[in-house]
Amino acid sequence: MSYWMMVASLPLLPAIMLALGHHRARAAQLCHVALSWILRLLQGQVCAKSTHAFVFSRCTHGNASSVLEAFDVYAETHASAAVGPQIGEALNQVVKRVQPSKVLELGMHCGYTSVLFLRLLPPDGKLFTVEQDPAVADLGEELILVAGFKHTQFQVLTGSSGDTIPTLHSLLGVAPGTSDTFHLVLMDHDPQQYLMDLRALEKEGLLCPVGCSIVVILRNQKDKVLIELIEMTQAKPDCYTIKSLIPGMLELFYQKKRTQ
Ligand SMILES: *[C@@H]1O[C@H](CO)[C@@H](O)[C@H](O)[C@H]1NC(C)=O
Repeated sequence: MSYWMMVASLPLLPAIMLALGHHRARAAQLCHVALSWILRLLQGQVCAKSTHAFVFSRCTHGNASSVLEAFDVYAETHASAAVGPQIGEALNQVVKRVQPSKVLELGMHCGYTSVLFLRLLPPDGKLFTVEQDPAVADLGEELILVAGFKHTQFQVLTGSSGDTIPTLHSLLGVAPGTSDTFHLVLMDHDPQQYLMDLRALEKEGLLCPVGCSIVVILRNQKDKVLIELIEMTQAKPDCYTIKSLIPGMLELFYQKKRTQ
């Protein structure tokens, strides 16, 4: 750079410094976001690995109740991705009331709720469970098998909920909007996706029109997703009602009312 150019750009220096500083802050922010994402992914895998190892060695193989019990024992002393015995009991009540034969689970983690559902499904029932992280999906699938369930009773789908939902029709092998679609949907994946995925499921005709319970797990009380979901149900009172709200869990009920 020539001397004269440097002199000429001197008045611009503060702006240049500012711009560089701004970019540096932005770059640092991006780095931070990427790092925390990687950390969360690793944390999830480490947590899933140790949960899996504990449950696998502690439970009686082939006994689903003992698998759930081992999960609960683990959660008493460790941070765990499983919903825990209180929500577990609330879920048991939902399944006993709804008596679903087709269940969709978004967010499988280590398979705690998958085992809980499978234990109560009728012989012709089927669970579809979606897990974004392939390593976690493998661990969860193994625990479902350890609990004594067979591949004819469940299917693990690895991928994001957004990518998976459009493929569910052909997997279910039923026409949209018929009563053979899902009677129970559990959302325990990324809360940022809850509302969008619920809309997608409705649009795709995957919620049983006669009645479908949508159970939403709320791990972070500050999530504004709860307010968004309640607002959505209030905006569509002809389709949705709020069935129950307990700490950590919201149950919505979907029913397509016949037009008069
Ligand atoms: C299965 O495990 C549960 C919980 O540990 C236990 O109460 C039950 O007796 C076991 N069932 C069989 C058939 O072993």
